Amino acid sequence: MKIGIDKIGFYAPHLYVDMNKLAVRRNVEPEKFTIGIGQEKMAVPPITQDSVTLAANAALEVLDENDKEAIDFVIFGTETGIDNSKSAAVYVHHLLGLNPHARTVEVKHACYGATAAIQMAKGHIALNPESKVLVLASDIARYGLNSSGEATQGAGAVGMVISADPAILALEDKSAYLADDVMDFWRPVYSDKALVDGKLSNEKYISFFAKVWEQYKEKTGRELKDFEAITFHLPYTKMGKKALKPVLEETTEDVQERLKANYQISTEYNRNVGNIYTGSLYLSLLSLLEQKEDLEAGARIGMFSYGSGAVGEFFTGILQDGYREHLKIKEHDELFASRKEVSVDEYEAIFEETLPTDGSSIELDVNSDPAQIYLAGVTDHMRRYVNKEK
Ligand code: CAA
Repeated sequence: MKIGIDKIGFYAPHLYVDMNKLAVRRNVEPEKFTIGIGQEKMAVPPITQDSVTLAANAALEVLDENDKEAIDFVIFGTETGIDNSKSAAVYVHHLLGLNPHARTVEVKHACYGATAAIQMAKGHIALNPESKVLVLASDIARYGLNSSGEATQGAGAVGMVISADPAILALEDKSAYLADDVMDFWRPVYSDKALVDGKLSNEKYISFFAKVWEQYKEKTGRELKDFEAITFHLPYTKMGKKALKPVLEETTEDVQERLKANYQISTEYNRNVGNIYTGSLYLSLLSLLEQKEDLEAGARIGMFSYGSGAVGEFFTGILQDGYREHLKIKEHDELFASRKEVSVDEYEAIFEETLPTDGSSIELDVNSDPAQIYLAGVTDHMRRYVNKEK
């Protein structure tokens, strides 16, 4: 039985800051951010968007009534959840009006969470072929104003329906994975900003990719030539390139050129959104599928997932006949085209805005947020979410 991605939706907040302008303000050459890091625009989440609303808006784009009935498992991968106990999945389950006979959980291992969710979903579908699983990957990347990681912030979500006989990408069974206790990036429960050893995180990312790729080759006998494209978790768009480069030496120039060209296409959306942690790999996959018009059904796509701390996994999928008809290319063009630029001053002010943590109530100004689902306020430590159409 084929199991994989049947639908894939995406949402990013409607505001962004231009990386050239941020560089000037930080006294950095703009090329460092646009070429050295590889980012053009960074999504800026207004206070009315959190990981729950971003995920709900992403899923909203793709779910129909049939999915809402068939989904009996919602798995929410995030490292910027809003509660240490209650899962973010149950809020989305309610906001989207899903079948009450469902399981809802949140899973965490840094940016690897959604990949873990997909593997869990695959097992669930193998046992229950009629079911569908909603996998959510949603985060707001925050390192701090003027911090070393600032240029690699971002916000957004990807929502995927995992099912039998998927319309878009059938996941293959063999994958390679690796875990090691590393302090390259983490966020203590008392902090709303991530802590990071940037150099170590880069090194670990590259070495995890090299190791899982070796293990994958041993397990399957496959080589680079068997891949049309390899997509990567993209904390910033230069990162995957650094990991891919040494491995490319194993293959012919033709294959190298193909993988490099397709890598470039797979970075397009991420370059304009920034790091969305759990969703970054899937945003990159989406960028490849939507932006490369001549990608043929039957092509094998590799995916490298990396979650600091650290877990890495290399897994693969085969594009299905007619997959392009199931993508939301026009909607995503519109999403990018309708975003509004904020100045660096505005971005800084939005970054500093926080919700009360002392139990006091707040009503948020929701009029400027065009999203269908948003956070309206907080009362007695409870977030109040609104789905305008419900
Ligand atoms: N023109 C062109 N390029 C320039 C330039 C210029 N004027 N000035 C500098 N550069 C280049 C540098 O040569 C460098 O390129 P290479 O990496 O290819 O050598 C690049 O710009 C970045 O320069 P620095 O290394 O000096 O940048 P930095 O010290 O400011 O740190 C960073 C960069 C480590 C990515 C930092 O932003 C950071 O810590 N980010 C958060 C952590 C992160 O994203 N780690 C990635 C792996 S971990 C992961 O994947 C999990 C996750 O999501 C967090």
